[in-house]
Amino acid sequence: MSGSPSADAARSGGLAVIILAAGLGTRMKSDVPKVLHEVCGRPLLSYVLDAAHGLAPDRIVVVTGPEHQAVADLLPVGCERAIQRRRLGSGDAVRAGMEPLAGFEGDVVVLVGDAPLIDAEFLGELVAAHRASGAAGTVATAVLDDPGHYGRIVRAGAEDAGDEPAVDVAPDAVAAIVEARDCTPEQLLIAEVNTGFYVFDAGQLRRLLPKLQTANAQGELYLTDVVHLMGAESLPVVAHVAPDPEVMLAVNSRVDLAAVNAVVRRRILARLMLAGVTVIDPGATYVDWGVEVGRDTVLHPFVHLLGHTQVGAACEIGPGAYLKDAFVGDRARVVSSYLYECVVSSSCSVGPFAYIRPNTVLQEGAKAGTFVEIKNSRIGENTKVPHLSYIGDAVVGDDTNIAAGNITANYDGFEKHPTTIGSNVKTGVDTSFVAPVTVGDGAFTAAGSVITKDVPPDALGVARANQITIPGYGARRRLRQDEAEADEQDGQ
Ligand code: UD1
Ligand code: MG
Repeated sequence: MSGSPSADAARSGGLAVIILAAGLGTRMKSDVPKVLHEVCGRPLLSYVLDAAHGLAPDRIVVVTGPEHQAVADLLPVGCERAIQRRRLGSGDAVRAGMEPLAGFEGDVVVLVGDAPLIDAEFLGELVAAHRASGAAGTVATAVLDDPGHYGRIVRAGAEDAGDEPAVDVAPDAVAAIVEARDCTPEQLLIAEVNTGFYVFDAGQLRRLLPKLQTANAQGELYLTDVVHLMGAESLPVVAHVAPDPEVMLAVNSRVDLAAVNAVVRRRILARLMLAGVTVIDPGATYVDWGVEVGRDTVLHPFVHLLGHTQVGAACEIGPGAYLKDAFVGDRARVVSSYLYECVVSSSCSVGPFAYIRPNTVLQEGAKAGTFVEIKNSRIGENTKVPHLSYIGDAVVGDDTNIAAGNITANYDGFEKHPTTIGSNVKTGVDTSFVAPVTVGDGAFTAAGSVITKDVPPDALGVARANQITIPGYGARRRLRQDEAEADEQDGQ
């Protein structure tokens, strides 16, 4: 992992990134580690890892809890894991992160792992600002309308800079970062907050971390106190103000999770729209990170495109479609349906109210219509399953028509069995195929048949009781009815 030659040349030393991801996320009220909670189908930490990678640093160290193997499993090759054994606070987490960086000289970028809107471009500017100023530390800050629970930035020149004002530092230097719950009422009014993204000189950081103390409302070792320690030694700490404060939005509660999710969703939809996708109502359309949609496709309201879903060009999706890990070709139409782990080829039509389950392939031009469930089956080109059918473990050829209410009886209570239906077949309504069974090319089944034996090509399979027709039944029945009514009246 190394940077571009030009970036390397500009460096005075190396560049390392430490991502803090060991927090318990108490405010999430969850058994899942906070950084694994998902935003648009992707763990929070993955977004932060992307930003870190984009910086092309020499090292990336992710600090995790000892029990968080699932977090470690997420780390790509080249990322190092540091374990924070006891959760003593963000300062202690950085101490753990510095362990594998013993002997490392240069700049250390520290990132909170719960702020997924960070991007490499902003981090690049932060590192450049740090190097240009020659400061011992640079804090990325943001000015918020509602600074909420974020740590407040106390500038050196401010009157309320604390009881140990730093000497010999610029008046706009950062004197301290004060956590909201440790703030005086005046400090709470400060609108400039700590983003949780920093750059420190590795040597100074290493030297000062052991000096952190727990004299704060939470009794934790705060990383933010490193800033105060630097100021007290007249080591300059500067602020780099984020032009767009959205970059810092962090997830500490489920309310934050929803807010960040809304931002990422909006960005994903904007990217799709700029690439030629029509989104009728972006407020009611849900597309996961990484989903691809082709140009001239229209996404109607209440569409969910999730996981590894891919949708081709010129499709109509929705209203009301839920697709997870589904592949949809070009010019397909999917209305009010639920699809997952399946392939819907070009020019197919699905729904309304179809349920397409894993390992289903609809080949080009096929149709799965209303109240149709298909699983683990291949439906051939231009074959139609238009109404009220269940097709499971079947292979159906091309240009076949499966009439309304056809069922593959694929399960005998012990095992699943295959149904094979050829090309150019026309089944009658209400045909049941008791698998294993094969229907040859060009064959027919009669309506209401329970097909238990193979039907050869071109044959008609009829498997139903013969009809008995009883002439004059209606007249006799009406006569009997009239007599019954007359008896009833006589009895009154
Ligand atoms: C932190 C900052 C706050 C800043 C905000 C930005 C501190 C003391 N405060 O507050 O100034 O405005 O981020 O989002 O740093 N972590 C560990 N081990 C621990 C504790 C935390 O790895 O023992 C990790 C968490 O996983 C998280 C990050 O450090 O990714 C920050 O911790 P969190 O508890 O979210 O701090 P905030 O209260 O959000
Ligand atoms: Mg946080």
